[in-house]
Amino acid sequence: MSSTTDRPTATADGPVPHRWLRRPGPHARPGEPAHPDQHAPSGLSYGADYNPDQWPREVWTEDVRLMREAGVTVVSLAIFSWARIQPTEDTWDFAWLDEVMDLLHENGITVDLATATASPPPWLTTKHPEVLPQTRTGETLWPGARQQWRPTSPVFREHALRLVERMAERYGDHPALVAWHVSNELGCHNVYDYSESAADAFRTWLRGRYTTLDALNAAWGTAFWSQRYSDWDQILPPRLTTSHPNPTQQLDFKRFSSDALQQYLRAEAAILRRATPDVPVTTNFMVMGETKGMDYAAWADELDFVSNDHYVLPGPQALDELSFSANLTGGIARHRPWFLMEHSTSAVNWQPVNVAKKPGELARDSLTHVAHGADAVCYFQWRQSAAGAEKYHSGMVPHAGEHSRLFRDVVALGATLRDLAPVAGSDQAPARAAIVFDWDSWWTSELDSHPTDRLRYRQEALDWYSAFLALGVRADVVPVAADLTGYDVVVAPVLHVVPAALRDRLTAFVEGGGHLVTTYFSGVVDQDDHAWLGGYPGALRDLLGVRVEEFAPLLDGESVTVEVDGAQLEATTWAEPVDVVDPAVEVVGWYKTGEQAGRAAITRRPVTTGAGTGSAAYVSTRLGREGLAPVLGRLLEDAGVRSELPAAARGLVELAVRTDGSEEFWFLVNRTAQPVEVPDVAGDVLLGRRLTPSGPGDGALLLDPRGVAVVRRPAETTPR
Ligand code: GAL
Repeated sequence: MSSTTDRPTATADGPVPHRWLRRPGPHARPGEPAHPDQHAPSGLSYGADYNPDQWPREVWTEDVRLMREAGVTVVSLAIFSWARIQPTEDTWDFAWLDEVMDLLHENGITVDLATATASPPPWLTTKHPEVLPQTRTGETLWPGARQQWRPTSPVFREHALRLVERMAERYGDHPALVAWHVSNELGCHNVYDYSESAADAFRTWLRGRYTTLDALNAAWGTAFWSQRYSDWDQILPPRLTTSHPNPTQQLDFKRFSSDALQQYLRAEAAILRRATPDVPVTTNFMVMGETKGMDYAAWADELDFVSNDHYVLPGPQALDELSFSANLTGGIARHRPWFLMEHSTSAVNWQPVNVAKKPGELARDSLTHVAHGADAVCYFQWRQSAAGAEKYHSGMVPHAGEHSRLFRDVVALGATLRDLAPVAGSDQAPARAAIVFDWDSWWTSELDSHPTDRLRYRQEALDWYSAFLALGVRADVVPVAADLTGYDVVVAPVLHVVPAALRDRLTAFVEGGGHLVTTYFSGVVDQDDHAWLGGYPGALRDLLGVRVEEFAPLLDGESVTVEVDGAQLEATTWAEPVDVVDPAVEVVGWYKTGEQAGRAAITRRPVTTGAGTGSAAYVSTRLGREGLAPVLGRLLEDAGVRSELPAAARGLVELAVRTDGSEEFWFLVNRTAQPVEVPDVAGDVLLGRRLTPSGPGDGALLLDPRGVAVVRRPAETTPR
C-alpha cells in the first residue's frame, strides 16, 4: 500500500486548474492605489451576499462603514437584481449598480459579481409564460417567488445570456471585481421540470447517450409492461402515471436534469470567459442535507473554484453533517481551497422551527468549514431584510442593528480570520481513510418499488462519518470518481450502482493492499439499473466472498441484535441471510436474534497479493451511528489506521488538517459545550491558547466550549 504522503492530488480525470480570486491591485484604474484594507486573496476572505437594492441610498454608506468594522473583504452582489437592472425588455439601469461597485471599491471591498440571472423579472414571464417550469403533474410554477424558469428553455436562455453579456461588458474591468458568480444555487427550486421544453431536451440528451432506439429500449428494459418505443418522439419525462414509472427512465431523467443545468452553467461561463479571461468563474453549490438533484462532482470542472452554501440542519448529527458537507465539498474541489459562499450567522427562516445559534456556534460553524478547506467565509446575507420572505433570516447586521451580540460576534470572527491568514491557499491534508460518495447510487438506491423505502443513502454515509468522528479518526469524503489508490481504508456505504469498471477499480484497490468496507444494497445493479445476476451483492460478490440469495428488510419498529467482539449492537431497516462462500472470509459480527440468528452479519475477506494484504468487508445491516463505531473501530484496527488525537480528546474534538506541503494547520474543533483540554499537540498556536506548560514540551491546548484551536506545525510531524 502506498503511503498517503505520496497520494496524487489529481484524480483519474487529470489535474484541476485552480485560479483563486483575482487580485484587485493590477486591475486598479490607472493611477489608483489598491486600498490598504484590500487583502484578498492573500488572506481568508470574509463577507456576504449584499442586496443594497433593498435599501435606500443612505443605508449603503452605513453598510460600508460597518463592513470595514467587521473586516469584510468580499461581497456577492446583484444576485436577485435582474428586474432592477432591466426594468423592461428595452431599458437598462446600471447607474445604481455602478455607484455600489464604486462605493465598495473605494472602501476596499471586493466584489464577487453575480450575473443576476437567478430570477427572471415579471415582464419576461408575462410575455413568455413558456419559460415557467412544470411539475410532474403538469402544474405550472407561477412567478411570485424566485427561480421560476425552465433549465432547458431557449427563450429564457436567450434573455439570460443577453444579461450576462451586458454585465460582463459593463463590469469586466471594474477594479472591485474579483470573481463572477453565475446565477445562484442552480437547481434549488427548478431542477426537475417536466414541460415540453424538458421533453424535447430529454430526447436530445437520450439520443446522445444511446444513439439508437434499440440501445435505449435495452437499457430501459422496455420489454417489461409493454413499454417498447418505436419513435424518439414517444419518449417523455417521467410524468405522473398510473403506477411505478420505469426506473431507468427515472434515473436517466435525474442524470439529464443535472446535466441540463450544468450545460446552462457552461453557457454563462463561456460568455464570461470570453469577455474577461482573467476573472475566475464560480457558482454556489448546495452540498448539504438532502439536496440531491445536482451531481456537483461532475459540475466542478466547469468552475475556476468551487463554492458552497451550507446551513446547519438541527438534530443530533447537526455538527457531523456540517463537517461531512464541508469535507465532501473539499473532495469535490479535489482538496484545493474552496469558497464558503453562504451560511447563516444565526437562525434561518425555512425550517419548521428556526433556532438561533448559541454562543460560540457562529465562529465554530464557520471555522469548521475553514478547517475543511474553505478560504472564504461568507453569509447569506449582509443586512437582514426588512421586507420579503426572508426577513426573519439572520444576517451579519441583524434587525437589532450594530449594537447586538450578533454583530459583535461578526466583528470578532473578522479579526480571527485575519489571524488565520497563513492558512489561506493550503489544501485539505489527505487522511488515511475515505468515505466514497456517489450521486448515481444516491439517486438509484432511493427509487420506488424497492425492497424497502426506508433506506436513506446520505444518512448511511453520514452515520459512517459520525463513527469516524466518534473514534477521532480523520476520513476524507470523496466522489466515487476520485483516485482511491492512496487510501488505506475506503468505506463505500450503499454503493448501489457498480458498473464493471468500478468493480474492477475496487478490486484493484483491494489487490493493491487497500481495505474496502461496503454495506447492504451495494453492488446490486449496473449503470442501467439492471440487477447483476447470480446473487447479491452482485458485482461485489466475488470480491467480498459472500453471497445473498434474498433481501430481508425489517419492518418499522423491528430490530435485530448483532454481536461484534462481545458487544451487542442493535440493527434496523435491513438484514440479510449472508452465505460465506470463500473459506478465507472471517466473520466479524453475527446475527444473534431474528430470522438470520446464527448467520454472519459482518464479514471480512483478506486478500493477499505481492502488493500486500488488503481486505474487503461487508456490513449486511443498518447499525446506525452508534452501532457503527465499534464495527469501524475493529475494521480500522485490522487495517492499522489509528486516531491522530490524544485519547482524552477523541469523540469530543474533531481534528481536520490543512497543508501547504511544508506546514500543516491542525484545526481542533470542540464539539461539546464544555471546555476540553487537548494534550500533546506540538506547534505554534495561531488560534486558541495553551495551559501553562507544567513540564517539558508544550502545555495542553485549552478549548473553550464550542471553541476552535488552530496549531501550525511542520508537515512531517503528522504521525502516519
Ligand atoms: C439560499 C439562497 C439565498 C437565501 C438563503 C437562505 O438557498 O441562495 O438566496 O435564500 O438560501 O437560507
